[in-house]
Amino acid sequence: MENLVSTWSKTTKILPENYIFPIDERPGSAEVSLCQNIPLIDLSGSQSQTVQEILHACQEFGFFQVINHGVSEDLIDDTMKVVKEFFDMADEEKAKLYSIDPMKRCKLYTSGYNYANEKIHFWRDNLRHPCHPLDEWVCLWPEKPTNYRDIVGRYSLEVRELSLRMLELIREGLGLELGYFGEELTGGQFLSINHYPQCPSPDLTLGLPKHADPNLITVLLQENVYGLQVFKNEQWLGVKPLPHAFVVNIGHQLQIISNGKLRSAEHRAVTNSREARTTVVSFIHPYQETLVEPAKSLIDTKVPLFRPFKFKDFLKFYEEKKGDTEAMMEVYKIKP
Ligand code: OGA
Ligand code: NI
Repeated sequence: MENLVSTWSKTTKILPENYIFPIDERPGSAEVSLCQNIPLIDLSGSQSQTVQEILHACQEFGFFQVINHGVSEDLIDDTMKVVKEFFDMADEEKAKLYSIDPMKRCKLYTSGYNYANEKIHFWRDNLRHPCHPLDEWVCLWPEKPTNYRDIVGRYSLEVRELSLRMLELIREGLGLELGYFGEELTGGQFLSINHYPQCPSPDLTLGLPKHADPNLITVLLQENVYGLQVFKNEQWLGVKPLPHAFVVNIGHQLQIISNGKLRSAEHRAVTNSREARTTVVSFIHPYQETLVEPAKSLIDTKVPLFRPFKFKDFLKFYEEKKGDTEAMMEVYKIKP
């Protein structure tokens, strides 16, 4: 528990050395461009237009924001409120879920996958737990705040539905057969709740270093505090927080299924010295045993760019190569 940034950082104004990133990875103090922003898509528009917009966003950016998505604003507000309450609870209460075991599925921990083996730690605490099927997992979730399970349970169901709806639009845009994104590819879901406390030197450290997500599709909720950046054309673009919007991004599995047509963009989270930032991130992913490969209908005329693999093997390799997206994808690429 004493490792959690939120626990020890209250009493110090100095960034410890093992949180200082190498110069070329630091965010620095320069403002990143917030104007050339990622696409904003209104899901209440006509279906054919929405399909085109989403496909374009996934090809160009691998990221977009959605509004008029059908998830109630009250549920969004309640979710953000209750996860912030979780991180504000007394240490004794949070200690019940704290674990440093990399294999533990429902846990509160800090920094990355394997704290003990890290040279540099990330300025974040994280609560994560599986959430689909809900009945199977909810009993492992935090018991406090008392309404956590009810609110976050409803939230994860709604966000799952929204994710499947977007996958359906992507399926249509790619021209894949009906039902392509079935249980095998979408049966897994977990929530990852990031808490980035106020940081004394945000120019030297990161909440999350540059990475691309290993899953199928990600839906992120952020409060009105800036911190998410997307890497495009060798530049960092800031994602402007929009109240009640979701940020959606493509994971490696969708990049591979689309035979490289859709981008799984690299991104990172920066911190700030003014206020803490909390994000609620839902990851939809295949079952561990699912065989993932480029969709057959997309390789009729083109050669496949990636070789088939089991999702669990990909994940294992991802953890080993974390942060080095190029080196990792090289292993899955088929050389012409
Ligand atoms: C993630 C992630 C960004 C953020 O959880 O994979 O990229 O702003 N989060 O919290
Ligand atoms: Ni991510």
